[in-house]
Amino acid sequence: MTQRVIKVRTKPSYEIIIKPGLLSEIPEDLKANFSFGKVAIITDSNVEKLYGRSLLNLLQSSGISAKLFSFPAGEQSKNMDTVVLLSRHLIRSNFDRHDLILALGGGVVGDVAGFLASIYLRGIPFVQVPTSLLAQVDSSIGGKTGVDLPEGKNLLGTFYQPARVYIDPEVLKTLPESNLRDGLAEVIKYACTLKPKLFSFLEKNHHAVLSLKDKALLRIIYDSCQAKAQVVSKDEKESGLRRVLNFGHTLGHALEAYADYKLQHGFCVAVGMVFACRLSERLRLAQTGLTERVERLLKLYQLPTRISELGLKVDRADVPKILSYFGRDKKVWKGKLTLVLLKNLGDFVFYEVSETKTLESVLEELL
Ligand SMILES: NC(=O)c1ccc[n+]([C@@H]2O[C@H](COP(=O)([O-])OP(=O)(O)OC[C@H]3O[C@@H](n4cnc5c(N)ncnc54)[C@H](O)[C@@H]3O)[C@@H](O)[C@H]2O)c1
Repeated sequence: MTQRVIKVRTKPSYEIIIKPGLLSEIPEDLKANFSFGKVAIITDSNVEKLYGRSLLNLLQSSGISAKLFSFPAGEQSKNMDTVVLLSRHLIRSNFDRHDLILALGGGVVGDVAGFLASIYLRGIPFVQVPTSLLAQVDSSIGGKTGVDLPEGKNLLGTFYQPARVYIDPEVLKTLPESNLRDGLAEVIKYACTLKPKLFSFLEKNHHAVLSLKDKALLRIIYDSCQAKAQVVSKDEKESGLRRVLNFGHTLGHALEAYADYKLQHGFCVAVGMVFACRLSERLRLAQTGLTERVERLLKLYQLPTRISELGLKVDRADVPKILSYFGRDKKVWKGKLTLVLLKNLGDFVFYEVSETKTLESVLEELL
């Protein structure tokens, strides 16, 4: 199957390469395109077993000096302790600025390894090899790196672009289904806001996508990466357009925080997208029917459309508390809460909230 290439026009710019089976071609591509000394593969305990050790062998057998460093899988490893531990291992293994970090894993590995790369010896080049759908369509692109603090998620971080992103859709065949859903919610986000043709494709091809057919995966990953690349190329540091990527995430993040981060991100975003669509209709920005179409698509991909489906026991009295989380994160724009709403598929608006009554009543409908 032919490879697809997308250019991300940030400073510096870089390419995203998408191709089934690409993992085995990484050593030759690295040698052909970059000059570097050693390679440090950074991965987690799950991905190490599935792909880390074989990639290490591949690199070594193509004459590249490489070492693998892994940490326990999961969000609980996304902290400064992991960054410090990895840094000390790298120092003791004599990695310097002429060497290269290769981030192999989901969003946690990408965020930790990217952050480490941005501060290790004041910056060392890194490439992303995302292995979860969420990382392939979202977190590996755009240069946001970071770790969590006990006080909140992603509170320490940098903008640091990778030198290249290698996406091999075949690795998704081992991804647990619940993690696949997290990525699908992001794919649907791009389809709603920026890629109406992708929306139709997802409607017509859900069997092919859910059974991970190569062609279908390639299409949804390519379209999603293109959408994200377009946005971050125009707005590298979230000063405007990049906010569109928050579609569905305002309520999504509020629900996650309300439930102490025990819920699945993609599920919360799915309900958040229904909320944004309903609100768009209620405010007469969008025509009646938009929400129904988005809900139908989410159901096709077995994503929830109501808060009760998240397993959360919430009643009307809890609505103000959930809404209180709206103001706490990045959705507050120059002092005002701004939501991403839709006029139609592929036609979004930034909506400044001036009163909360309507938000409350729409949220009550989603309990
Ligand atoms: N930097 C950004 O722009 C950005 C954007 C969105 C999300 N994020 C971050 O991404 C993180 C979530 O990413 P995630 O959902 O990939 O979580 P994750 O990295 O924890 O991966 C999910 C699970 O899947 C496993 N896994 C990954 N690839 C696999 C494969 N091919 N086969 C089998 N198992 C595999 C991992 O070991 C892990 O257990 C969060 O920390 C979030 O803050 C960052």
